[in-house]
Amino acid sequence: MSRILITGAAGFIGSQLAYRLWKNGDELSLIDNFSYGSEDNLVFPEHDFRDEIYHNDIRDQDFLNSLFNNKHFDIVYHMAGITPLPDCQNNPVEAVDVNVRGTVIILDLVRKYGIKKLIFASTSAVYENNTDFPSIENCVEKPSLVYPSTKYSSEQFCKAFSDAYSIPVVCLRFANVYGPHIDCLRKQPPVMGYIIRELYKGNIPVLHSTGEQKRDFVYVDDLIDLAIRVQKCNHFDVVNVSTGITVSINDIYKIIADYMGNSNQKPRYERTDHFWENYPELYSEPYPISAKIMEHEVLKYTCLSNEHAFREYGWRPQTSLEEGIKKTVEFSCEILRKA
Ligand SMILES: NC(=O)c1ccc[n+]([C@@H]2O[C@H](COP(=O)([O-])OP(=O)(O)OC[C@H]3O[C@@H](n4cnc5c(N)ncnc54)[C@H](O)[C@@H]3O)[C@@H](O)[C@H]2O)c1
Repeated sequence: MSRILITGAAGFIGSQLAYRLWKNGDELSLIDNFSYGSEDNLVFPEHDFRDEIYHNDIRDQDFLNSLFNNKHFDIVYHMAGITPLPDCQNNPVEAVDVNVRGTVIILDLVRKYGIKKLIFASTSAVYENNTDFPSIENCVEKPSLVYPSTKYSSEQFCKAFSDAYSIPVVCLRFANVYGPHIDCLRKQPPVMGYIIRELYKGNIPVLHSTGEQKRDFVYVDDLIDLAIRVQKCNHFDVVNVSTGITVSINDIYKIIADYMGNSNQKPRYERTDHFWENYPELYSEPYPISAKIMEHEVLKYTCLSNEHAFREYGWRPQTSLEEGIKKTVEFSCEILRKA
């Protein structure tokens, strides 16, 4: 049994991590400011975390100091962050404040209170400018967009604290994560959440470019298996969390549409410069977002090697795409029915 803090615990991944650790018998403290997460995410078949979570911001240092002082955590999972890319692009000051300054606040608490380990949620988006695939951990071309830049900077601070104070820190670079609790209601949901929502509502989903762009998708339960395995790490490490297998957005669309009984509903294809059109200010301000950057973001290929995760932690993803999508659709439709 470990005493564990999870930040961002009302979010997609943090909530499921909480449930798994709770089942393992760990003693948990959960924080979320509910800027994105939801109370619904905290209700599980065998446990309801809604009355246990602290509704606090990770930048509230007075609150955190008193929490760390009282709880004597062994491990911190830092999952909180502003994750939608267009939100970060649209409000870079807030993105840096939460994602970078927030991470440094957590690192400093880890240092001050002698926490045994920090496990930090980073992203495959740091590889957005890579051209060699599969991407490997020690090879990052510096990113251009705000969200991956905040995560890349946060990783640098994780390394700086680990180097200076010998704190074990593991940065997990998640590929595109999917599974139950994926957010299908937010302004710009992840692609699977978006397709499920639009098909559920009887709308025609919009895909950008030809839909043939390929990505690496990892199922949330598999991610959590690795997030737990890395507790054994006693140094600084960066680990890809991925399948190493790519699948096109069209293939994802087809599996979801078939499973939802919408096989005849074809998507509508839009130009790449219409991506993020829910954020008109990004296109209308004196310096609009570059069409080239938008095209790169839409067409971006992601494929991450998971050899390091296998060699160091004996981890391989176990869930097939079909099985994972089936569970994602079932859960999301239930959320959409209640919304
Ligand atoms: N889902 C993915 O595909 C994916 C991929 C790569 C990396 N990640 C990273 O994994 C982590 C979890 O992602 P997720 O998909 O569960 O995202 P999510 O948005 O569902 O969860 C993040 C949670 O952090 C909370 N939060 C944001 N700012 C906060 C603050 N200032 N104080 C306290 N809580 C705050 C939000 O309310 C939300 O509940 C994030 O750091 C994200 O960047 C996710």
